[in-house]
Amino acid sequence: MRKSIVPDETLSPQLTQEFLDNAGQFAVILEDCGLVRLKRLTKQQLASSSREFGIIEKYCYLLETNSQPVIRDISFKNGIQIGSQYCQLYTLADAADLPPLCGSRINYDKYSTDKTKFSIGFAAPLGLLLPCNHIYNQYVFIDDAQATLKKLESKKLRLQSLSAYSRGNSIAMDAVNDFLNESISEQRLPIKAHFNVLVWTSDKEKLKDVKNMVSTSLAQMEAMPKQETLGAAQIFWGGIPGNAGDFPSNDCFDSFAEQASCFFNQETNYRSSISPVGIRLGERLNGMPCHVDLSDEPMKKGIITNRNKFILGPSGSGKSFFTNHMVRSYYEQGTHVVLVDVGHSYKGLCTLVNGYYFTYDEKKIRFALIRFTFLPEIPWIRKSVNR
Ligand SMILES: Nc1ncnc2c1ncn2[C@@H]1O[C@H](COP(=O)(O)OP(=O)(O)O)[C@@H](O)[C@H]1O
Ligand SMILES: [Mg+2]
Repeated sequence: MRKSIVPDETLSPQLTQEFLDNAGQFAVILEDCGLVRLKRLTKQQLASSSREFGIIEKYCYLLETNSQPVIRDISFKNGIQIGSQYCQLYTLADAADLPPLCGSRINYDKYSTDKTKFSIGFAAPLGLLLPCNHIYNQYVFIDDAQATLKKLESKKLRLQSLSAYSRGNSIAMDAVNDFLNESISEQRLPIKAHFNVLVWTSDKEKLKDVKNMVSTSLAQMEAMPKQETLGAAQIFWGGIPGNAGDFPSNDCFDSFAEQASCFFNQETNYRSSISPVGIRLGERLNGMPCHVDLSDEPMKKGIITNRNKFILGPSGSGKSFFTNHMVRSYYEQGTHVVLVDVGHSYKGLCTLVNGYYFTYDEKKIRFALIRFTFLPEIPWIRKSVNR
């Protein structure tokens, strides 16, 4: 039993300062790569206020953004149950259950062709591609590397002396040996890692489907799904944002920083924009409605420098359909629209909004071809033509 509910270290001002310094250095290193920006959460964003839930309660009560504040019971008696939600926890916590190969990316077959690859993150099957409510938790613990290697050396010696008794020991010894060799020869940082996915549904009948989804996703990564039961509570509590220090270290596997980072989920979901100019679209994975500003917002953020658009796709892929929708959305926001309609795709829209539609009859039209056959030999014209 612990004497206090918070770790002793958090009560010492000196250690707290040291921790803040380290965290600050970590943030600088991450931001220096130019690809990520970090934001320190405020107390209010972590904890709750009377009207809005903080991230800690969002995790504990499985609340969605913008949902009404509600307090839910958490029970571990019959599996994990949070309010009326039935949960299941799947872990990647044992080196033996991991995929035999991992990489930073995989192909997404649905959007790839023979010639073009559409890359997604290696762990995307457990992230955006998992079609049910879930939280994917990722842990990497950087211990004292020297101490870890020393421990592994003595484990190797122990296995070596036992290898005469069983082939299993001999194989385990080889594995430890390989790990030690790789860490020295490739200068890899040994770390401990753990990944888990918490899925939930409010319909008990659907729990089976949800389980199948996770198993399929893990099988896609060629990993063995492990459904957590006894250790589930401890892993769940360790997952409270900011509480990773309480995570059970025996639920981690030894790996290197490079390999472990393959299991990070990089893709985020589409987010609705609050910009007043925009169009309503459905996000392509689940068809969820999304409000997107393709003009002013990316300009303001400096992603684009003008509002030109290029809509490209094979015949029948929905170019005209999308353009109709875009033009109508902008029209309703007060934009003036002048459209040259070659295929009569916008006649309906024009009638709908009581616009003017000018058209022509191909039989009655005569084309006048103007051709330039003579260029006077004046030096300044030459010059401008040559340019
Ligand atoms: N987002 C969409 N949702 C549903 N149906 C669509 C969508 N986009 C296109 N379609 C269907 O596909 C058909 C062809 O689309 P269209 O815009 O005419 O293609 P394109 O102009 O690229 O040749 C349309 O008649 C429409 O019924
Ligand atoms: Mg068209």
